[in-house]
Amino acid sequence: MARAAAAGAGGSARLLPAADVVPDDLLKAGGLLFVCPENLASMSGLMKEMFDRTYYPVLGRIEGRPYATAIAAGSDGTGAQAQIDRIAKGWRLRRVAEPLIVNLAAQTPEAILAQKTLSEAATKQCAELGEAFAQGLEMGNLLIGRGWVDGFYRFRTAHGASAYVTARSRIRAVSG
Ligand SMILES: Cc1cc2nc3c(=O)[nH]c(=O)nc-3n(C[C@H](O)[C@H](O)[C@H](O)COP(=O)(O)O)c2cc1C
Repeated sequence: MARAAAAGAGGSARLLPAADVVPDDLLKAGGLLFVCPENLASMSGLMKEMFDRTYYPVLGRIEGRPYATAIAAGSDGTGAQAQIDRIAKGWRLRRVAEPLIVNLAAQTPEAILAQKTLSEAATKQCAELGEAFAQGLEMGNLLIGRGWVDGFYRFRTAHGASAYVTARSRIRAVSG
């Protein structure tokens, strides 16, 4: 999912495993897309460990930056998402895209432990999220993502304008 989102975002994105993230990476990032599985109703341990290491070093220094989440789940995913949202609230980040949860429908031990293949539709969703996120950052001053409307991803900018980005990440219209 993270690779698909990074591919969608194009050259401007850096794809970092949570274990490798250091506070400076967060300070330098224009926006943050957190991608992890939900395990035992929580974000993955590696993602939690990243937040544990970086929370105080960057507190008060990344306020207002845009963020979004993409969670891989077997049945739910909302627990992990809520935990990340809570930490993001502490950092005063701004969610700019609707939460993405990809339900891989793995509920038996065998299915959970099996190697999973992301469906074409889910890969496309992740890529489109990455594209829209990167496009919003390029446009600058992105305030809030409103989700897909009639095939377009709609953002509201800090200046009150609405921008519509197609699934192929072309700016279709800017209004307001
Ligand atoms: C120990 C463990 C606990 C899990 N707990 C949950 C859970 O609470 N909610 C859920 O939706 N999925 C849960 N899952 C399923 C995973 O989120 C799902 O298999 C996801 O695809 C994992 O990503 P991965 O295949 O990249 O490891 C759990 C999986 C494992 C291994």
